[in-house]
Amino acid sequence: MANLTQIIVSAPGKLMLLGEHAVVYNRPSLVTAVDQRLTLKAETLENSVFELNAKDAGVTNYSKPLSELGKGDIPKGAKFVERAMYNFFARHPQSNRGSINNIDSRLRGNDIIGIRITTKSDFSPLFGFGSSSASTVCTLKALSELFNAKLSCRQIFELSFQTVLDVQGTGSGFDVAAATYGGTLYYSKAGSKTIKPLNLKHLPLIIGYSGIKADTVTLVKQVAEKAKKYPNVIENIYSQIGYLVDLAKKALLKEDYQTLGELMDLNQGLLVSLGVEGKKLADMIYAAREAGAYGAKLSGAGIGDCMIAIAPANKVSGVKKAITKAGGKVVNVKVNAPGVRIEK
Ligand code: MEV
Repeated sequence: MANLTQIIVSAPGKLMLLGEHAVVYNRPSLVTAVDQRLTLKAETLENSVFELNAKDAGVTNYSKPLSELGKGDIPKGAKFVERAMYNFFARHPQSNRGSINNIDSRLRGNDIIGIRITTKSDFSPLFGFGSSSASTVCTLKALSELFNAKLSCRQIFELSFQTVLDVQGTGSGFDVAAATYGGTLYYSKAGSKTIKPLNLKHLPLIIGYSGIKADTVTLVKQVAEKAKKYPNVIENIYSQIGYLVDLAKKALLKEDYQTLGELMDLNQGLLVSLGVEGKKLADMIYAAREAGAYGAKLSGAGIGDCMIAIAPANKVSGVKKAITKAGGKVVNVKVNAPGVRIEK
């Protein structure tokens, strides 16, 4: 039997600072966790069923026998949590019931007790703050606690990244790294993966939401098509973005926001070349620059979701007004927030 019957955990949303798209192709990126969180409650049940309520993701009273986990028609808003649970039971080497070698027969034989999961998010799934990655990380953290599996941060990250790849087939894992570790990270999925926390005291970022939903998977595919047609050009762009990230890391650590802003502008130029600018985001970015920002760029897959800007303290309010005037919505969140944690 599990030691606990209920646990509440939470994980932060994320924002990409620099390096999007190139990070999918093994270049480094800079990512920060935001102080709006997704909270997940996991309760054990007597019956061998999986229940999910994730209103923010459009899922209410979803229920199925555990033996059906990962099978059949799974609603979009349930995919990540369900797959994370499947992966936990299937792959975790030391559950409280011994090693799980054959997930299907163990689930059929009611060897694993039922689980009810309820999630609630501080942020709209429309922002692109990463509700899928936060709910994946929360699910694995909660199951680890409920079943006393003692997964390390690294194991939670690895299994979460695998879950995201299982569900959407593509991704760099930067979002699950942010949800797991929190703070501001230098992240690369190259080789054995680099996840380096940066010791920042503060980062006065301005965030503007475009009101348009970005479809990450489609945009990654679109850029991949371009890379097929112009392999050398696009590979070079990825490498240039990687160089910018290394320079930006130094600027961030020195709190040299003027340089950081210039590097953001350069990164934006390369994202324009990749074809992911988007008119609305471009308007917001130009408005921020014209109002005195050191620099501005899109954040995430592009076309929609959010843009970010960095500005001198005396220009912040003007930049926010300019973003609003350009049709954006300023999102007041703090960055550098803590990673996944137990709430209760
Ligand atoms: C999307 O937020 C950022 C991309 O680089 C995709 C990824 O890293 O998974 C476009």
